[in-house]
Amino acid sequence: MYSIRPASPADATVIHGIQMRAFAEEGRLSETRDIPPLTETVEAIELLIRTQTVLAAWDGERIVGSARGIVDGDVCTLRGVSVEQRHRGQGLGASLVRAIERAHPNVRMFQLTTNTLVPGNVAFYERLGYRVDERTPFGSKIVLAQMSKRRGSDSATGLESTIAGR
Ligand SMILES: CC(C)(COP(=O)(O)OP(=O)(O)OC[C@H]1O[C@@H](n2cnc3c(N)ncnc32)[C@H](O)[C@@H]1OP(=O)(O)O)[C@@H](O)C(=O)NCCC(=O)NCCS
Repeated sequence: MYSIRPASPADATVIHGIQMRAFAEEGRLSETRDIPPLTETVEAIELLIRTQTVLAAWDGERIVGSARGIVDGDVCTLRGVSVEQRHRGQGLGASLVRAIERAHPNVRMFQLTTNTLVPGNVAFYERLGYRVDERTPFGSKIVLAQMSKRRGSDSATGLESTIAGR
């Protein structure tokens, strides 16, 4: 059984480590480590934990995934959605995204940017109701997809605290 709860500042180092491991493949495929999820510092994550919504997914006593929602006006930007390799494929990533959505009942729209070089990324968010608004080149190799979803376009309600994931 996994549980999803707000992270505390003391969790920043662990969340940073999970993010670095999770996005290593994106760095490899993009042939650069100069991409936002890999250049973010522990201190930046700690600041977001204090000021925005950062959720952690726990397997017992261990954090095995994380996601954050950054609110600006009536738009919430999803970032840092990451799950440790051996905990993937059990619905945890989807539950983290839905939990961020449920934590922001008053925003008009959710948006995110994802790297189309990583197989499965766009399809992962499409299954959650997001649509690609735009594809933009980033450097010579990377094509980023800007995706969004309007509130009310699916049945997200209430903040989920516990999921059965295995
Ligand atoms: C994307 C990610 C969060 C999904 O986590 P998860 O717990 O496996 O997600 P779910 O179990 O809810 O959904 C799994 C689906 O995600 C898709 N997916 C996307 N990237 C994937 C990856 N690197 N590894 C495994 N599945 C991935 C698969 O298509 C899979 O679909 P399937 O169930 O039909 O096989 C996780 O793979 C991850 O941390 N990836 C690296 C970081 C990243 O790219 N984050 C999102 C981009 S902003």
